Amino acid sequence: MTGTTIQEVLNGAVAQLRLAGIEQPWREARILLAEATGASVSTIMAWPERIISREHEALFAGWLSRRLDQEPVSRILGHREFWSLPFIVTPATLDPRPDSETLVEAVLAVFPNRNRPYRIVDFGTGTGCLLLALLSEYPNAYGLGIDRSAAAARVAQANAEALGFANRTSIVICDWDEAITGGFDIIISNPPYIPSPEIATLMPAVRDYDPLPALDGGHDGLDPYRVLCHAAQRLLKPDGAVFFEVGKGQENDAEQLLRVAGLENCDYRRDLAGIVRVVSAKSFRPLQK
Ligand SMILES: C[S@@+](CC[C@H](N)C(=O)[O-])C[C@H]1O[C@@H](n2cnc3c(N)ncnc32)[C@H](O)[C@@H]1O
Repeated sequence: MTGTTIQEVLNGAVAQLRLAGIEQPWREARILLAEATGASVSTIMAWPERIISREHEALFAGWLSRRLDQEPVSRILGHREFWSLPFIVTPATLDPRPDSETLVEAVLAVFPNRNRPYRIVDFGTGTGCLLLALLSEYPNAYGLGIDRSAAAARVAQANAEALGFANRTSIVICDWDEAITGGFDIIISNPPYIPSPEIATLMPAVRDYDPLPALDGGHDGLDPYRVLCHAAQRLLKPDGAVFFEVGKGQENDAEQLLRVAGLENCDYRRDLAGIVRVVSAKSFRPLQK
């Protein structure tokens, strides 16, 4: 039988991806090829001698050329895994980052009782990845996701439905906390935190594909925290806690803003690279006399 084998296609793709500076060429080539052929990655690896159809080869070639132009794999495929759950990703949403799983871990560490009916609010929900990951861990919790982008909010709603959490999720389109009342046990946010002057210097895979409103945190990257610290102080229940993802080196500023807003017991959580990724705080409770 003539034709190109899976192994030959992979070898060619990996060589091109490597030349384009893609960090994990084998992993990415396998993911794209698996999706293009409708097989799993393990099948691709188990039968590299299989002949690929012309149709699948053409589909893969188109995707490869987009990846060589620095478009992230999740943008090409329209989905990505986060906290081992599948999420729809569109041009209106930030591509969820593995580092953001640190925030989910931080919440689970502070609220270890999985059965309580926590009320959770997520400011700047995007795909809903953080909120829905928490709902997957807390089966009796209710989640409110906020986003100013109507297109992002639609994606969060679609993800809540696809994951089976729509009955415990509300998605609201508004500017941070402007329309929000009531007490919450857990407040989370991964807000835009890149300083505006640095946007132009970001890697093309970020600058050209993530939506600007998901990146731009104002002149020093801290504008959203200035609003959200006060929102947290207003909305937290007495035993509640707030968790913010922060950019590299922003933890001291975020902590200071939390303290000024009247929150206390600030804590940090680091990602796998040892970088402080999450700053948390609790609501202020006056000492009983
Ligand atoms: C960095 S993305 C985070 C998305 C998602 N939570 C995640 O971790 O992947 C920030 C999100 O905040 C939203 N956003 C930006 N400014 C906002 C505002 N003033 N009010 C509400 N949402 C806002 C953006 O549309 C974007 O979806």
